[in-house]
Parts: sequence; C-alpha cells; structure tokens
Amino acid sequence: MRGTIETDPWNPKPEVIARAAAILRSGGLVAFPTETVYGLGADGLNPQAVEKIFQAKGRPQDNPLILHLSVPQEAEELAELDSRARAVMGAFWPGPLTLVLPARPAVPEAVRAGLPTVALRIPDHPVALALIRKTGRPIAGPSANRSGRPSPTDAAAVAADLGESVELILDAGNVNIGLESTVIDLTGEKILLLRPGGMPIERLEEFFGTPLGAPGGGEKKRSPGTRYRHYAPDVPVYIWDHKEELPGAIDLAQSAFIGMTPPPFGFARMVLFDSQENYARGVFAAFRRLEAEGVRHIVAEWPAPSGIGLALRDRILRAKEAVTTTRWESQRL
Ligand code: TXA
Ligand code: MG
Repeated sequence: MRGTIETDPWNPKPEVIARAAAILRSGGLVAFPTETVYGLGADGLNPQAVEKIFQAKGRPQDNPLILHLSVPQEAEELAELDSRARAVMGAFWPGPLTLVLPARPAVPEAVRAGLPTVALRIPDHPVALALIRKTGRPIAGPSANRSGRPSPTDAAAVAADLGESVELILDAGNVNIGLESTVIDLTGEKILLLRPGGMPIERLEEFFGTPLGAPGGGEKKRSPGTRYRHYAPDVPVYIWDHKEELPGAIDLAQSAFIGMTPPPFGFARMVLFDSQENYARGVFAAFRRLEAEGVRHIVAEWPAPSGIGLALRDRILRAKEAVTTTRWESQRL
C-alpha cells in the first residue's frame, strides 16, 4: 500500500484534501469515507482513471459506477434533469440516495458501462464533500472492496482488500450507516427501486406519494451490480428466522451468530447489536472479523423489513447466495 492518512471526519485538514485531490486529478485512485461505506475514487471524467477502478476491484466491466458530486448544480451537465429529479435532489441530497438518470454526453462510457444512463449522488460526509470540491470533478466511486466482498466500513477493510492498488486511503474512522446508498431509477414515469440502502424507502414513498416499482425481468439489466453474488465473506452465511431449529447443518462449536435477538442455540461466538441501525452499521465488519477468526459458519438473524431493515435483508440474502433483483421484493411483505 502507498499510504493511509488519518483525517478528522468533521474538519479534514486542507493539506490532506489537497494531496488527495492532486492524486485524483493526475489519474490516481484514492479511497475516501462516505456516510454509507468507503468509496474507491477516481476522476469520473477521465476514462483511464475510471478503468483503474475496474482493475483494482476485479469488477465486471458491465457494472456501471456512481458519480459523486458536491452540489446539485453539477448534475446539470451530466444528466437530463426534469423538475421531478431536481425536487428529489433538493429533498434528499446530500444523503444515502443515488439517482439513475438519462446520461448526457459528458459522462464517459466507462462510467456508464455502456448504458445510456448515469448514477449520481452527493454523499453526506465532510471529507467526501471537501475532496469532491477540491478535485473539481465528479468522482467515480464504487464501494472500496474487492468485487463480491463485504463493503468496507473502515479504512482497515479498504487496506485489506485494495491496499496494493490504491495510492491513498483517507481514514476517517467508522462510517455512520454501514450499508450502501439506496439506488432509484428516475428514467421512466414509474420510479423503480434498484437497490434498497441507507435511505429508507418509506421516506421516498412518502415523498413521491406512491409505492416504488421493482425492476421487472426486462429491466433487470438496469442495475447490473445486483446480478452478482455480493457482500459475501469467505464463510457460508445462513439466515435464522427466529425458528426453533438451526437453519442448516451448523457445527455450533465452530460457528458464529450475528443479530439482535439472542438465539436458543449455544454458538461459540455471538455478535449482538442493540438496534437495527447498529446491526446495519456493524454487519459487514462482523462478516470480515468472523472470517478472520476462522469460524466455519455464520448465522445471521433475519431482521424486520422496515427502515434500514430492508437493505439489511438484501445484503444478508446476497451474502448467502446469488439472488436476482426481485428476490428482496417479496421480502417486503
Ligand atoms: O453508498 C454507496 O452507494 C457507495 C458509496 C461509496 O457511495 N457506492 C457504491 O457503489 O455502493 P457500487 O459501485 O458498489 O454500487 C453501485 C450500484 C451498483 O449496483 C451498480 O450496478 C448501480 O449502482 N449502478 C451504477 N450506475 C448505474 C446505472 N447507470 N444504472 C443502473 N444501476 C447503476
Ligand atoms: Mg459495491
């Protein structure tokens, strides 16, 4: 690894931000904190720099990237905006909400992975915002993990996955939300939920006054990232749905439980959270830690589907097996 710099999450030093921005402007990669998870940043208008992201992550070429902005006005040049899109930006940015919109020509094909659309968001984190502002470009930024691994919620997880290929890691401690942003598609009349995430869909549905749609078979292509097995540790994950029986052939003496409700089984290792928010905040780090400890199986409690719980269900399900975009939809019921 080339280096990690600790930064105050609230008041990053200008010289640290300037150094990181210089790396980005010269086509390098910088990992940075956001309120959701750590991102792997590159100059979003430089196709060679964007290509480095795919290399570093081992990311499939057909999985497009989010462009991170610092003010909504920057979206005007990158996407076709209508009054609905501007209203959503005004209401929810900065925040854990990514908008998929028709792309304008300024967006490199590498960012869009060939799609006619672009994903945009303004992260709610002082370090990310300072970096984007100083760089003066949109920053392309997927989660800073090797493709398929749990997303990093601290700088150590970034270093473990990508240390060799990132020039600088800005370490601002643990992230706040712990799961990625909610992704919605605003390209059609019906607003589609492509990925549940940090912005609860209840808030979006209240804002729009209508339920969000699920991408159907033909539209599955629209969020290519949701096709792969994802967020997964190298340890088999099982789901515990509060039943009396164990969810599989679990060797309790070598297995771990994570969740909020102590289960009626004697696990060797227990990671308990006192709220759904803390479960979401800690789930990826718990996956990584338990994997490092060498447990044989991880049993994760199936949370209620309200608030952040819907995103938590999605990530646990994807850690367990490859699922299609529509699987979590039925879990809302
Ligand atoms: O919270 C987050 O969103 C984090 C932080 C770093 O901002 N980023 C993140 O990026 O999770 P990534 O690349 O790991 O996930 C982006 C998701 C993927 O599922 C991708 O397929 C989808 O957004 N996506 C990106 N551009 C898209 C587009 N034009 N159309 C549909 N889906 C898109
Ligand atoms: Mg990711």
